[in-house]
Amino acid sequence: MHNVIFDTDPGVDDALALLYLHKHPQVNLLAVTTVFGNAAVESTTHNALFLKQAWGLDAPVARGAAGPLQPDAQPEAWPVHIHGDNGLGNHPVPAQLDVAADPRSAHQLIIDLVRAQPGQVTLVAVGRMTNLALALREAPDIASLVRGVVIMGGAFHVNGNITPAAEANIWGDAEAADIVFTASWPVIAIGLDVTTQVEMDRHGLDALAHAGGADADLVRALSQDYVDFYLQAGHKGMVVHDCCACIALTRPELFEFEHASVRVATDGVARGMTIPKPAGMAFGPSVWDGQAMQSIAIGVDASAVLADIEKTLSL
Ligand code: BDR
Ligand code: CA
Repeated sequence: MHNVIFDTDPGVDDALALLYLHKHPQVNLLAVTTVFGNAAVESTTHNALFLKQAWGLDAPVARGAAGPLQPDAQPEAWPVHIHGDNGLGNHPVPAQLDVAADPRSAHQLIIDLVRAQPGQVTLVAVGRMTNLALALREAPDIASLVRGVVIMGGAFHVNGNITPAAEANIWGDAEAADIVFTASWPVIAIGLDVTTQVEMDRHGLDALAHAGGADADLVRALSQDYVDFYLQAGHKGMVVHDCCACIALTRPELFEFEHASVRVATDGVARGMTIPKPAGMAFGPSVWDGQAMQSIAIGVDASAVLADIEKTLSL
């Protein structure tokens, strides 16, 4: 069983990932923590609460960071052309909900839950890594207390998607990402190298809704503009970035990994670039030396991932 804290910025693909975790029989969803990214944190938190209400989640939702660690970092323009004005593909979300956020901050809830179950909790982070970095700064002991960390983020041997160098979750808080990659905890990084290969077309989305009933039909409804965005960008369907990170937890055998220490460029034109130093490669002395070795996905069985999503949502 995987005890999971899901750190997220819903977010269309985040919504699918959340439903996957909720439905998966080997996942015990402990909490949902929110962060800015696909929209302002007020919106991503409201969206997470909307999904909690719609799907009857027991897990608390705690609001997290509104911006990056460095307050003078380049400000974000919310990606309304991808995730809609409200972050959920312009799907109507009621202003009033019957559920409320946990009073704790996201990073405090992460600290509390990790300390309460040493060695048992996996952090699955699919937005800016700010909450994880804040938790590490305040409670460095959690690095040795988590079972593991799985992130959707990075572009290791391919171009980025927000600049030629950087993937959005990393670019949006490069300092936080560098802290997460260099902490002494095991990170599995699912980046654009693999997520861009996992494309769900409208036929697949309809099949998902058919197999998964009303819960999955909500995913289908809020994903329509997101599908259009990816079709116009030349993909065969919507890229299910964040769900890939969840499946790397439940079905790691569907991915191929390399092992490397990773540093993130924190300024300059390559800000947000994730630069691996692969195991066994020799260089001169550098800031990669002595850093934790992490697992970076470099290959994926895309059709098996799509099949696993449909199977899990039909449960
Ligand atoms: C990541 O950025 C967001 O738009 C998605 O939700 C995903 O987490 C992909 O670069
Ligand atoms: Ca996300």
